[in-house]
Amino acid sequence: MTRIAPSILSADFAELAASIDRVAPEADLLHVDVMDGHFVPNLTIGPPVVAAIRRHTDLYLDCHLMMTNPGDFLEAFAKAGANGVSVHIEVDGTAELFAEMRKLGLDVGLAVNPDTPFEAYERWLPELDLVLVMTVFPGFGGQKFMAEVMPKLAQTRAAIAERGLRVSVEVDGGIDERTGPVAALNGADTFVAGNAIFGAEDPRAAARRIRDAVDE
Ligand code: DX5
Ligand code: ZN
Repeated sequence: MTRIAPSILSADFAELAASIDRVAPEADLLHVDVMDGHFVPNLTIGPPVVAAIRRHTDLYLDCHLMMTNPGDFLEAFAKAGANGVSVHIEVDGTAELFAEMRKLGLDVGLAVNPDTPFEAYERWLPELDLVLVMTVFPGFGGQKFMAEVMPKLAQTRAAIAERGLRVSVEVDGGIDERTGPVAALNGADTFVAGNAIFGAEDPRAAARRIRDAVDE
């Protein structure tokens, strides 16, 4: 099943509620990019904004934690109303966080950078609800999709199928109606898009176009 996850990173933060409403009918999840100015050279939003979004919408909140110390904030994100949280494998000790995420009632996601090899996260697949395969280096919206990640994406999907696991495979970075289908062919089922959706005149229609292109 195809899931579209608009990334609010490309929305107008002063008009967040209106931006969410514009895309909600076509959104399966809402992707929230949390950047700490340390793991990535950019600073975005945190638990208070997630809580404000929670008060506004019932959409599934898919929080992508680009943070050096995600463990210090898991409880805050859970309390704020996050549904799922992804931590990066490139941060030391992420694997130990899975148990805490479960305890807090959060869906467990693991994000992997473009240059992180499959072998680095393969053994954690059985613990996950979602694996987030980055198709750009995290930090900024509007970057170019990295097709060189596709073999790793396909390898990830194959491993999940082989082991009969139920893990969603999410792609994030440079996804639009042209690159989405490429990622789908390589095993993605959940598609994050920021620029392609919120940069469009009609975000809902843009999300629909990505979904239709992927489903074709
Ligand atoms: C990048 C973020 C992405 C970003 C994607 O660091 O993790 O979620 O919002 O934006 P686009 O779709 O514009 O590449
Ligand atoms: Zn993201």
